[in-house]
Amino acid sequence: MSKKNLISITDFSKEEYLKIMELSSQFEENPSQSLLKGKVIATLFFEPSTRTRLSFETAINRLGGKIIGFSDSNSSSVSKGETLHDTIKMVSNYADLIIMRHPLEGSARYAAEVSDVPVINAGDGANQHPSQTLLDMYSIMKTQGRLDDINLFMVGDLKYGRTVHSLLMAMSQFKNPIFNFVAPPELAMPDEYKLYLSNKGIRYFEHLEFNDIINQADIIYMTRVQKERFIDPVEYEKVKNVYILKNEMLANTKPTVKILHPLPRINEIHTNVDSNPKAYYFTQARNGVFTRMAIISHLLNLR
Ligand code: CP
Repeated sequence: MSKKNLISITDFSKEEYLKIMELSSQFEENPSQSLLKGKVIATLFFEPSTRTRLSFETAINRLGGKIIGFSDSNSSSVSKGETLHDTIKMVSNYADLIIMRHPLEGSARYAAEVSDVPVINAGDGANQHPSQTLLDMYSIMKTQGRLDDINLFMVGDLKYGRTVHSLLMAMSQFKNPIFNFVAPPELAMPDEYKLYLSNKGIRYFEHLEFNDIINQADIIYMTRVQKERFIDPVEYEKVKNVYILKNEMLANTKPTVKILHPLPRINEIHTNVDSNPKAYYFTQARNGVFTRMAIISHLLNLR
């Protein structure tokens, strides 16, 4: 049987998204299972991570698997000049599945071509972060009870923020989404994603501010300005404080609205929002364990 990878969110069909939602719910009910007993999973992180790496590793531990890998490429032979090709070729000799984060766009697709075992893209530059998207969708499903008819506000760095790119593509598979993009011109949603929506006849609106329209939102998806993607630090300084969501701004929002954020947060959500029942970002990160258990078991056909 040919191996299945998760590199772009479009590698999964709508039916697979729904299957991942169902499996995530089952793993949340029963998080300790031994489906990965005897399997070795590699986590190769060429870029820093807290949630993605640790929630994948928690998922593997909860499923009874073993982990090899690195969280800092300086501790691997990459620091001696070994290529990505050779690194992946070697690791695919050792492991049953590779989970990789890398700063270069397209690196995960390349790794999947080289590898003999399935590859999960844990973030490749500003391109895609599909496992984050599946946990975001699970969070939307849990809090709204549906994935159809969602008015989704995406706020902040829509240019470099890979999580919004993957989420836009996935949510566009469901009925009647409305996308509201809130970003300064320097960080606007790239044209290719707007074209993707236009070609599907999906509505999107672009805004510089959102105070007056926030009451329409079902989900407010806040994002960090991605400092590490800026070539010129002066450009980062200009936009780093562009949006800060404060508790008082939520007063007239829908009672059911939830605030999501892939995290880490810098200052784009004031800490006075944290105790508001509409804040969901820490639970969203917890949901990542169950969703990643579901992704691994789906790719390795463990059920
Ligand atoms: N959401 C996310 O990717 O967080 P980390 O960078 O901590 O993995």
